[in-house]
Amino acid sequence: MKAILITGGAGFIGSHVVRLMVNKYPEYQIFNLDKLTYAGNLGNLQDIENKENYTFLKGDITDENFINNIFNQYSFDGVIHLAAESHVDRSITDPLAFAKTNILGTMVLLNAFKTLWKGQWEGKRFYHVSTDEVYGTLGETGLFEETTPYDPNSPYSASKASSDHFVRAYGETYGIPYVITNCSNNYGQNQFPEKLIPLFINNILTSKPLPVYGDGNYTRDWLYVVDHARAIDLVYHKGVDHETYNIGGFNEWKNIDLIKVLCEQMDQKLNKPKGTSAQLITYVKDRPGHDLRYAIDASKINKELGWEPSVTFEQGLSITIDWYLNNKEWLENVTSGNYQKYYELQYQK
Ligand code: NAD
Ligand code: DAU
Repeated sequence: MKAILITGGAGFIGSHVVRLMVNKYPEYQIFNLDKLTYAGNLGNLQDIENKENYTFLKGDITDENFINNIFNQYSFDGVIHLAAESHVDRSITDPLAFAKTNILGTMVLLNAFKTLWKGQWEGKRFYHVSTDEVYGTLGETGLFEETTPYDPNSPYSASKASSDHFVRAYGETYGIPYVITNCSNNYGQNQFPEKLIPLFINNILTSKPLPVYGDGNYTRDWLYVVDHARAIDLVYHKGVDHETYNIGGFNEWKNIDLIKVLCEQMDQKLNKPKGTSAQLITYVKDRPGHDLRYAIDASKINKELGWEPSVTFEQGLSITIDWYLNNKEWLENVTSGNYQKYYELQYQK
């Protein structure tokens, strides 16, 4: 039986990866290691928490003793590393927290993996889940390719870029068999309502303003989270050692256009007159260092591994909105307490 450690499995993308791996591979023992920060929520995994091939471990990836102990205890054959501080706005307020978790945490995991296997790499793999933000920003044209030079602009993307470099360096220096993927913006069920889509759904439900940064003409490439989880499964099993793969939705939207579509779908689903939700749109102060445009060239993973998204954006967005409408308790739980403080600090400036 293979033992696979998934870090950050109680978070948004991680919970979808854990669910897929636990259900698809009964022959694997899946360990979900998560610190349960504000972004981690075991409620995301209620449907699989009693499965025999699933174990939850509460802990911090920066805690060297703890990490070394669990590597010794469970001898993980593979690591799928998603644990991170993930929100750009929070990285602007508290950059050191991002350096600690995203850089140091990744190094602690790499060290533990190296120490455990001592060069016996047959059947082993370290999978680092990264972001397209490491490439910086595009102008009006062009796409991020795997060979695009790194040029990060936010403390978040700089910390992710740094962690990517360490993974690569451990591969070159110690031979660790790694793969890295750099993915575009995800959306879907269980995303914490600090990110654009769930934040705006929550604000429409609670009749709060929809805070559009700057002129709203920033562009992102959106991918449904389950399709990202499918890509991670594929790259974990079929990707080539020491390679990186870009993952994207072939789906670019200017923020303001996406927000208008979201408002229309919300009006329809809530049986409100057309234009009701859009009245909440409010232009606010821009994010410092705001990247103009991200767009991914995902042709490598498509050609070499046969991956492509399984749903259109309209389908994915509809599934996502329905999930939030049917899980208002989840939303209420995650937006009580500290969320209110965060919201005031971020938006009442
Ligand atoms: P998230 O913020 O929803 O979840 C992060 C998880 O990591 C949480 O469960 C949190 O409790 C856990 N965590 C944080 N610090 C930890 C620590 N020190 N020790 C152990 N666990 C800790 O993030 P997400 O959006 O699911 O992103 C997951 C990964 O995917 C991140 O590495 C992120 O950089 C990357 N990524 C995200 C996106 C996106 O659009 N969300 C796109 C591309 C790549
Ligand atoms: O590209 C991948 C990245 O996508 C991931 O690595 C990050 O973890 C993830 O958070 C996401 O980063 P973004 O900064 O692109 O996502 P966010 O949802 O925060 O913002 C999307 C766009 O919407 C961006 O241009 C900023 C804008 N925005 C965001 C918020 C929260 C607003 O206009 N208003 C807002 O309130």
